[in-house]
This record gives sequence, structure tokens and C-alpha cells, in this order.
Amino acid sequence: MGEHVLEFPKDFFWGTATSSHQVEGGNTNNWSQWENIPGKIRNNDKSGNACGWWESMEVDLSLMKQMNHNTHRMSIEWSRIEPEEGKFNEAAIQRYKEMIRSLKDVGIEPMVTLHHFTNPIWLENKGAWTNEASIQYFKRYVTYVVEHLGDDVRLWCTINEPEVYAVEGHMLCYYPPGKFSLALYFSTTINLLSAHLAAYEVIKAKNYAAQVGIVKNYQLFDPLDENSFFDKLLAKFLDRYFNRIVIDPFVFGKFTFPLPYRKEEIARLKGKTDFFGLNYYTRWRVKATLGSPATMLANIFNITPGAQVSDITKDGNPYGEIYPEGIYRAIKIVSAINKPIYITETGLPDADDSRRPRFLLTHLRQVHKAIKEGFDVRGIYHWSLTDNFEWADGWALRFGLVAFDQNTGERKMRASGKLFCEIVKAGAITQDMVKQYAPDMLSSYFE
Ligand code: FCB
Repeated sequence: MGEHVLEFPKDFFWGTATSSHQVEGGNTNNWSQWENIPGKIRNNDKSGNACGWWESMEVDLSLMKQMNHNTHRMSIEWSRIEPEEGKFNEAAIQRYKEMIRSLKDVGIEPMVTLHHFTNPIWLENKGAWTNEASIQYFKRYVTYVVEHLGDDVRLWCTINEPEVYAVEGHMLCYYPPGKFSLALYFSTTINLLSAHLAAYEVIKAKNYAAQVGIVKNYQLFDPLDENSFFDKLLAKFLDRYFNRIVIDPFVFGKFTFPLPYRKEEIARLKGKTDFFGLNYYTRWRVKATLGSPATMLANIFNITPGAQVSDITKDGNPYGEIYPEGIYRAIKIVSAINKPIYITETGLPDADDSRRPRFLLTHLRQVHKAIKEGFDVRGIYHWSLTDNFEWADGWALRFGLVAFDQNTGERKMRASGKLFCEIVKAGAITQDMVKQYAPDMLSSYFE
């Protein structure tokens, strides 16, 4: 390559992502209920006042500004908009309008997610996404939101990670409703895909120029033993039922593997996403073992021996392997949809920030490589701006470019935050940055 700089496109989107329940504070929804059940959240933490966004999101807004961001991904909390079935809260939608306008006033383009894991309690009581009727309820909520915010928002995400919501709620059971059932995993995922379609049609009918996308966590599964037939088969199986389940309907208008489904709606999904919101965190090396389901499960998810890992989760294992090539592979795979890609989340839990600067440098190098090869990646949203309420891991996992003390409200820029800020300002990664933040990589970084 010769040149010691990686330049990103001039109009590249740089920012961070958050979600309502993780930053707002004071929400009453399925998660606030879940947090009150002892043992569900690590250390029995509560979201509590979270990062205080409902009262003063403006504190973090000035951080974004200071860090040169030109976009931010946030979400709307359905339980605030429609706290009781069919009763919409005008003050809440006005508060969102105010947040969105204050982002725009300082040149930060809002990307707005309509569903990010949380449900109003009345919906939860009706079975939430296990119940097909939720699609119609969601459609009514989206119609209301779009009537009020449609003129201010150009970029919409419909559903955040339908498959994660379903797998956590019905397989791993770390998230509400925590009811183990393979059948519910499938019906929930399919209902959420249909909800995407409903939202897509509502938004496009109001404003054809709006860009509406699905957001999916691309979880890579590779065989632990590359020569093992069963490990390879298992990796393929998991890829089908966790990844392709969301991607195939958009590409082919059908599932390409056996699944009981609603053919007609799935057919209508073909092409119905204007961009692909790609969340990328890690990969699993999977191992097939014979034995009881419990034995199989205990051995299934592994990390490449010797690989660097991020912080430890509630179940005692690392959150994941740090695997930069994975983001490039994921971009390549999802480009089958043939739509622009936004990296709507990427990041890692790293409380002492010892690995995050390097994570940024190595992952962004892979994104740059993809762009250079012609993949249409439009922007990147780091997860997250500050540490926030990390679902079942409560306050224990720290994902922020900025450290946040949930007891005092104090915010402190991490070294990774400074680096991200420099990258955004330059629109590039320079030799000086690598020299300063990961000197040992300098000789190979620009090769
Ligand atoms: C994603 C979620 C996001 C955050 C990150 C760490 O799966 O969308 O809310 O929890 O993981």
C-alpha cells in the first residue's frame, strides 16, 4: 500500500449507538419488571436512573458534539409513547422531538430505532412477540411515532436484533419473558420480521425518501475443529437458524432451509429494507458433542485457543473473542442483500480500556478494507457513547468510549474515546495514531 494513512469516505457517518432503556432512566416496561425479579440481573442491578437521558440527554449530546460525531443512533421507548393500550402520551413524543431536534441543531443526524428489546407491560401481558397480534399493535404505535417525528427523521431502524430478542427470551432465557421453547424462538423471530414489514410500509407511505432498515447482529459461527464434520455441520446449522433466518427473507423472499412459516409475509419481505443495519461483536468457535442437551450446550460455544477476549459476563465466560476479521466477513455476507450497510453497533466490554483502542484500530482497518473493495458501508456507530445499563449484565459490563459512574453521574473520557475522536476528526487513521495507541502494530498495520 505504501501510504501510511487509511482514509474513509468524506461523507462517512461517524457516531455512537444507544437504546432508550439503557440510557433514559425511570422506564416502566417488561425490563423494569424483569429487573425486580431477584437473580435475573447480575448483582441484582437496576437500570434506575440509567444515564439520565430522559431528564437531560443534552449532557451526552454535548459529548457527541465535542467528539466530532455527525450521527447518533437512539431508540424510542414504546412504553413511554403508549403506556396504556391505545393511550398515547403527547408529552413523551414531544420530548423525543426535542431530543431529535437538538441532535440536528448541532449537525448530528439522528438514526432512530423503533423497537430495541423493550415492550410496554400491557403488551407483555398479552404474550408480547409470541402473539401475532403484536404486529398490529406495533403498526399502530409506529404510525403515531411517524406522524409526529416523520418530518425530522430520515434514517429509521425498525427492529433491533429480532433473533437476539428471541434467543435470549426463549433459548438462553437471560431476557424476558425467559420461557424456554424452540417453537417460541421461531414464532417470535417471524413475528418480529413481520413487524419490520409493517413498520417499513407505514414509514414509506408517509415519506418515500426515508431510509428504513432492519438491524441484525451477525454472529459468526466457525467450527472449533476445522476438520471435524460435526463441528462444521453444527456451525452451518447455527448460521441458518440464527443468521440466515433474518437475511434470507430479504434476499430470496423465503427461507432456504426447513422452517414452518407464514409464506406470504416472508415473500413480501424480499428487498424491503433500504439498508442493512449490521451489529458485529464477536464469533464463536463451535464444538459438537454427544450427550444430553445440557452437556452439548456446556461445550458448544468456544473461543479460539490463545485469542484475546473481552470482559467476563454473568455466566462466567468472556463476552467474546476479539476477532477483527469478523467484521469484514460479516459485511461481505450481508452485502448479499444488495443494499447500503451501516455498522449500527460494534464494540466490546472493556472496563479498564486496555483493549478498546486496539479494537477500534483493528476493526476499522477491516471496515476500510471492505470499503476499498467496493462494499457500500456508509457509517459506523460505536456501542456505546458512555457505559450504560447492559441488560442481564446490569452495570458490570462497560462498553463506553466514555466511562460513566452510575452512582455519581460522572463522565470521564477514556483513551479509546480520545482515539475515536481523533479518527473522526481526521476521517482517517494515521500513522501517528497507531504509534500512540498500539505501537507494536505499526510495522504491520498499513501493509
Ligand atoms: C447488542 C444490543 C445492545 C447492547 C450491545 C452490547 O446486542 O443491541 O443493546 O446491549 O449488544
